[in-house]
Amino acid sequence: MKFLPALIVISLLSIKSNGQNATVKKLNAPDTVGENSFLEVFQNRSSAHEFSSEPLSDEILSEILWAANGVNRPESGKRTAASALNAQDVDIYVFEAEGTYLYDYKEHALKMISDTDGRTFFLGSQYEELPPLVFLLVSDVSRFSFGTEEMRLEWAAIDVGLVAQNIMLYCAWRDLAARPRSLMEHEKVIELLQLTESKHALLNIPVSKKK
Ligand SMILES: Cc1cc2nc3c(=O)[nH]c(=O)nc-3n(C[C@H](O)[C@H](O)[C@H](O)COP(=O)(O)O)c2cc1C
Repeated sequence: MKFLPALIVISLLSIKSNGQNATVKKLNAPDTVGENSFLEVFQNRSSAHEFSSEPLSDEILSEILWAANGVNRPESGKRTAASALNAQDVDIYVFEAEGTYLYDYKEHALKMISDTDGRTFFLGSQYEELPPLVFLLVSDVSRFSFGTEEMRLEWAAIDVGLVAQNIMLYCAWRDLAARPRSLMEHEKVIELLQLTESKHALLNIPVSKKK
C-alpha cells in the first residue's frame, strides 16, 4: 500500500500531460529553404490569380499527368493518388486550344475526345489570358464496389481532392501558376465529354507559366 501515493502522483501527471492543461510542444520551424528541401514545395503552393497563354511543353504536361494520377506501381497497377476502395475513380481530361483529351493512365497517353477548345467552359472571360492547359477531374462513382450514394459522393470528392493536390504540389515545385476551381459550365462539359450519370465533373485546374 505504500506505493499508492506514488501511483496517484504518476496518474495525475499523465492526466495533466494528456489533458487540456498539457504544456504546448513547440514544433521545429519548416526548413523551406534548405538545399533540396521538399518543404519548399509547400511554401510555394498557392492558387494563382492570373495566367499566361504561353504554351507549356509536352514534358511538363506528361509530368503533371503522371504526378496527378499515373501508375507508380506497375506490378499492382496502383496510382500516385490514393482512392477509396482502390476504385481508381478519378479520370483526368485535358483541355487545350487544339482539343480535349482523356488521360489514358495505362498507356500514359492522351486520347483525343474532341477538337473543340473547351477552356472557356471553365474560365469564360474571367482572366486576361487563357492558360494553355485546363485539367478536369471527373469521378466515376460506379467504380466503387459498394456504398450508398452519399458515401460514394463523399469518396469521390476526397479522391478528386487527392489528385488535385498532386497537381498543385507539382506546379508549386515547377513554379507554375495553378488554381483548383469547382465553378464550370457543367452542361457544356457534360455534353462535350458525353458524361454518363455516374461521372461527376468536380474540379478543374487551369495551369500556365507564371505571368
Ligand atoms: C474545392 C475547392 C473549390 C474551389 N473553387 C474555386 C472556384 O470555383 N473558383 C476560384 O476562383 N477558386 C476556387 N477555389 C480556390 C480557392 O478560392 C482558394 O484555394 C482559396 O482562396 C485559398 O487560396 P490558396 O489556395 O492560395 O491558399 C477552390 C478551392 C477548392 C479547394
